[in-house]
Amino acid sequence: MPEDTIDHAALRHHGDVEAVPGMLDFAVNVRGSAPPPWLRERLAARLGDLARYPAASDEFRARAAVAARHGRSPEEVLLLGGAAEGFALLPKLGSRAAAVLHPSFTEPELALREAGVPVRRVVLPPPYSLDPAAVPDDADLVVLGNPTNPTSVLHPAAALHALRRPGRVLVVDEAFLDAVPGEPESLAGLAAPDVLVLRSLTKTWALAGLRCGYLLGAPELLARLAHGRPHWPLGTLQLEAISATAEPAAVAWAEREAREIAAEREAMISELRATGLTVHTPATGPFLLLETPDGAPLREHLATRGIAVRRADTFPGLTPGHLRVAVRAAPAVATLTTAIRRYHAAAHDRPTAREDPAAHVGAEGCEGATARDRTDACADVAARDRATASGAPESDAAPRSGTPNRTAPEHRAPAGRSHRP
Ligand SMILES: Cc1ncc(COP(=O)(O)O)c(C=O)c1O
Repeated sequence: MPEDTIDHAALRHHGDVEAVPGMLDFAVNVRGSAPPPWLRERLAARLGDLARYPAASDEFRARAAVAARHGRSPEEVLLLGGAAEGFALLPKLGSRAAAVLHPSFTEPELALREAGVPVRRVVLPPPYSLDPAAVPDDADLVVLGNPTNPTSVLHPAAALHALRRPGRVLVVDEAFLDAVPGEPESLAGLAAPDVLVLRSLTKTWALAGLRCGYLLGAPELLARLAHGRPHWPLGTLQLEAISATAEPAAVAWAEREAREIAAEREAMISELRATGLTVHTPATGPFLLLETPDGAPLREHLATRGIAVRRADTFPGLTPGHLRVAVRAAPAVATLTTAIRRYHAAAHDRPTAREDPAAHVGAEGCEGATARDRTDACADVAARDRATASGAPESDAAPRSGTPNRTAPEHRAPAGRSHRP
């Protein structure tokens, strides 16, 4: 595709701009509203060290912990300020013909294009299964996600291996694989000269603001990527977070969380399908790809009800009818599905069986929740409704007791977040 037809603004679009603080957030795939307390304590314990430059011993400790977690050597680990930094480093590999698989996270394509690397898009049609033969033979760099954002498709490791060729580097973005029980199909443990695997701490650990990730690969490849980086590329708190989350107890905690996500996802698929939306399955990630003829107006309607879902037409290969939603717990999903039903009822001027037309729109879904199920999502919606009823702008709504402020998207917090690893 000629360069001038590429919409860089679309490639740069991410769900975070769709989730205004205070909204019920299905747009951003971060799990929970804050890192678990034990991790915050670990980070807080290092605040007193911030006068010093990050220590080489901390850097080594973090690499060693990651290496042990994946069965690699510390020399095969490059620590990053988020997986996004890994994409920004890829042009250093000197590719002359890169291929990016789509629909997928758009940062790799953007980083390569902005560095002047020739990029070809390989757009997989539904059901978005990986077809290694669709990738041009002469591609010397191939980038794809597993599981893939936004389709939630997990490609088999065998299909990934089929992409390997002499003279080609394969980059697998496994930013969401720690949210899949057992981390199936992972290439993280594969010591090979031509495979790079990216990991992120952002999603599972609710650490988007700290910027932590890492690359796993052959030392020669990592040295090329690291060349020219500034001294001390990661801070002490980032190094501490990477060490802490790679420890066996933390990995076991993430595994339990992944199982919870899987159960929530299955329930969410049924609930969403019952509203008439098409849900792409099989789905493996902590998010779902939806399709409906009126995706854009539905998304706008939900936004007016304080519910953020992610537009998906900025992913190459998808349309305005596609939307992406993060997997959330039942009460938040009930709020979403009731709002969808109301939209359909209004749009098609027909009542729906599963709602009370007299109920206030903003509190919908929460009203049917049992006391035990009634989560922060419902409290947030109720607080917003109270604020709206009193004429106060949403951001002025009084915080609930124990909630620091309205900018904390508490509705993302799953039960059990406070468990120690
Ligand atoms: C598939 C995928 N990979 C990588 C990233 C970037 O992760 P990080 O926050 O670690 O930079 C994202 C962020 O949304 C993503 O969706």
